Amino acid sequence: MDDVVGVVGAGTMGNGIAQVAARAGYNVIMNDVRDEFLDRGLSAIDKSLQRDVDKERLDAASKQAIIGRIRRTTDFGVLKEASFVVEAVVEDLGVKTQVFKMLDEVTPSHAILASNTSSISITKLAAATKRPDKVIGMHFMNPVPVMKLVEVIRGMATSDETYERVRTLSEQLGKTALDCQDSPGFVSNRVLMPMINEAVFALYEGVASRESIDGIMKLGMNHPMGPLTLADFIGLDVCLAIMNVLYEGLGDPKYRPCPLLKRYVDAGWLGRKSGRGFYEY
Ligand code: CAA
Repeated sequence: MDDVVGVVGAGTMGNGIAQVAARAGYNVIMNDVRDEFLDRGLSAIDKSLQRDVDKERLDAASKQAIIGRIRRTTDFGVLKEASFVVEAVVEDLGVKTQVFKMLDEVTPSHAILASNTSSISITKLAAATKRPDKVIGMHFMNPVPVMKLVEVIRGMATSDETYERVRTLSEQLGKTALDCQDSPGFVSNRVLMPMINEAVFALYEGVASRESIDGIMKLGMNHPMGPLTLADFIGLDVCLAIMNVLYEGLGDPKYRPCPLLKRYVDAGWLGRKSGRGFYEY
């Protein structure tokens, strides 16, 4: 494939996106600010692909070829070669706006600039560039290699052509693209996060134990993970930040984050990544 896919940010989402793009045959540029972040990202990709090698769904040579298509760099300027860029940096409006300004300067004018944001306005990010028609949301789900959805978010100025190019790219990555308008939490987190928040309220009010709450939703609703386990998997800081986006953006008290969720985040109990959340890891 001629198109080069750039990924800014080598964290959980960024390295997952780099992996699926390289696996689909794209040459990928994975950028981050420090070599150690790139090394960590590559080792996550290696581990994830190794699962498929162990299950004999991928041979070792193909795994190496996929990894070989991922060029790692701390030099942002290299992204000038990319015709698609997916930004997956920290969920912070200031940082993301800065990244979009820089991408607008560095990448060719035809390049599509997508954000993997889970809640920040695409319209705002687009306004930081001189090509708002080519800015779009591509919201992948964790774990990226497993989850089939890309939630595609159209900003105020996103063109139909940009949407079609992103839909085609998503299909090439083995994903299904489903679109929505730019509204707080989009669809995925507008529906998911209030459920998680309600589970935290149930725990807070002593309605049931963490195991019961999760078990009821797993066995009763056929969810792969209970809501508290899922919150730990996503990160409690991320869940709180998204609840705040819903609360402030929609102005409805029904989105009020549970005080217990705030307390856990204050304590640094952020879920799996910190070793403790609603469960201990
Ligand atoms: N890379 C590659 N493959 C992986 C993987 C990874 N990181 N993690 C799991 N897998 C694969 C396994 O190899 C296994 O494959 P097969 O069944 O084909 O052999 C399959 O996924 C299932 O994995 P496990 O058997 O290890 O464990 P599991 O059955 O408990 O599934 C799970 C793990 C896929 C994560 C499942 O629990 C699940 O779907 N959980 C819900 C995930 C979810 O809701 N994600 C969305 C979060 S919200 C979000 O991301 C967006 C946001 O804005 C907050």
